[in-house]
Amino acid sequence: MQNFIYNIPTIVYFGKGQIEAIGEIAKKTGKKALLIYGGGSIKANGIYDDVVRLLGQEGIPFAELSGVEPNPKISLVREGVKICREEGVDMLIPIGGGSVIDTAKAIAGAVSYDGDPWDVVCDASLIKDPLPIIVVLTIAATGSEMDYAAVISNAETKDKVELDHEGLIPKYAIMDPTYTQTVSHYQTIAGIADIMSHVFEQYFLECGDTYLQDQFMEAILRTVMKYGKIAAEHPDDYDARANLMWAQSWAINGMVSCGKSGAWVCHPIEHEISGFYDVTHGLALAIITPNWMRKILDDTIVNEFVSYGVNVLGIDPDQDPFAIAREAIDKTEDYFHELGIPARLRDIGVPDESCFEIMAKKALGNINGAYNPLTVEDIVDILKASF
Ligand code: NZQ
Ligand code: ZN
Repeated sequence: MQNFIYNIPTIVYFGKGQIEAIGEIAKKTGKKALLIYGGGSIKANGIYDDVVRLLGQEGIPFAELSGVEPNPKISLVREGVKICREEGVDMLIPIGGGSVIDTAKAIAGAVSYDGDPWDVVCDASLIKDPLPIIVVLTIAATGSEMDYAAVISNAETKDKVELDHEGLIPKYAIMDPTYTQTVSHYQTIAGIADIMSHVFEQYFLECGDTYLQDQFMEAILRTVMKYGKIAAEHPDDYDARANLMWAQSWAINGMVSCGKSGAWVCHPIEHEISGFYDVTHGLALAIITPNWMRKILDDTIVNEFVSYGVNVLGIDPDQDPFAIAREAIDKTEDYFHELGIPARLRDIGVPDESCFEIMAKKALGNINGAYNPLTVEDIVDILKASF
C-alpha cells in the first residue's frame, strides 16, 4: 500500500428535508451568496423556491448566476467572477450537478486572481483564498460535492480541462435524495455509468495489498449496479436514489484511493470526446470503458479483473483467470446496454473519426503515470472500437 494523506473535510447534511439547514449554514459561512444553477430544473421542482425562502428567513442577501450547461463553459465562469467582485459575494451556493458545482469551484478559485479565469483552470497554483462553497446536490453522478476537482470547457479551443485544488473542496454539501427523483432516465443512467467509471479508474491498479480499499470499491459497484437499475426503472424509489447518492460521493471523495493512486485513463480520454463534441460525460465513459478494459487486460492486472468478476458480478471462480476477466468485461458492457446506454460513440453525437488522433495525443498528456501505460495508437484503437 502506498503512503497517503487522508482529508475529506466536507460537512454533509444527508436526507429528506436537510435543506432546512441552509440558512443557518450560510449565516456562519459568509455575508452575501451567489446562487449558481443550470437551465431551470431547480425552478420546476421547487428547490429554488426553498433555498430563496430559507436564505430570506436568515436575512442572507444573494446574487444569481443561471444557465450553466452540461460540460460547463469558461465563459460563464468569467461572468460569475465579475458578479462576485461587483456584488461583494463571499460564498457560493451551487444548486445542481457536477456542471454547476464545477462552475462554482472555478469561480471560487478565480475571484482573487486578476487575469483571465482560464489561466486558473489551467494552473491551480494561481489560486489564493478560494471562496467557500455550500453545495445543494440534485443529481447522483460526479461526486463533485465532496472532491477537489472542477472540469471546465473552453468552447473556442475545444479544451476540457480538470482543475484540482484542495481549497476547492466544498465546505458543506446538502444531499436530499428526493431532489434526484426528477432527474430524467437519460441523466440517471449517465450518472450511474460515471460513478462506476470513477471506481474502475481506481480499482484496476496494482499497488500491493489494498484489501480494505478494494472491498469498499466492490461494495460501491454492487450498490450502484443494484440501485442504478431500480432508479432507472422506478425514478421515485427513495431508497434507490438515496443509495446511489451516497455511493457516488464515496466513489470519488478520496477514501478508496488511499494507498492506491495512479493516473486515471478513461476520464482524460472522455474529456477529449466531450471537449470536442459536447457529448454527455457518463454515456461516453460507458461506451469506451469496456474497450479500455480489453486493451489493458494482461498478466499484471488479470487478478483485479478476476476479483471484480467474482466479487461484484458473481462469475464462477473455477475458471481460467482470463476467461473470468473477459466475461467480466462483457458483463459490464451488457449492464450498460441493459440500462439503455447507446452502444457506440456515433449514437451520442460523435460525427466521425477525423479527430481521434489529435484527441488521443491530447489525452495522453493527461495520463502520465498510468498503471498500464497506453500509446497514442492504443487510445486511437479504443476510440475506433467505440465509434
Ligand atoms: O440544467 P438543469 O435544468 O438543472 O438540468 C440538469 C442538466 O441538464 C439536469 N438535472 C440535474 N439535476 C436535476 C436535473 N434535472 C431534473 N431534476 C434534477 N434534480 O441534469 C443535466 C446534467 O447536469 P450536469 O450537472 O451536467 O450533470 P453531472 O452531475 O453528470 O455533471 C457532469 C459534468 O461534471 C464533470 C463532467 O465532465 C461534466 O462536465 N465531472 C466532474 C467531476 C468532478 N468535479 O469531480 C468528475 C467527473 O468525472 C466529471 O468529469
Ligand atoms: Zn466522471
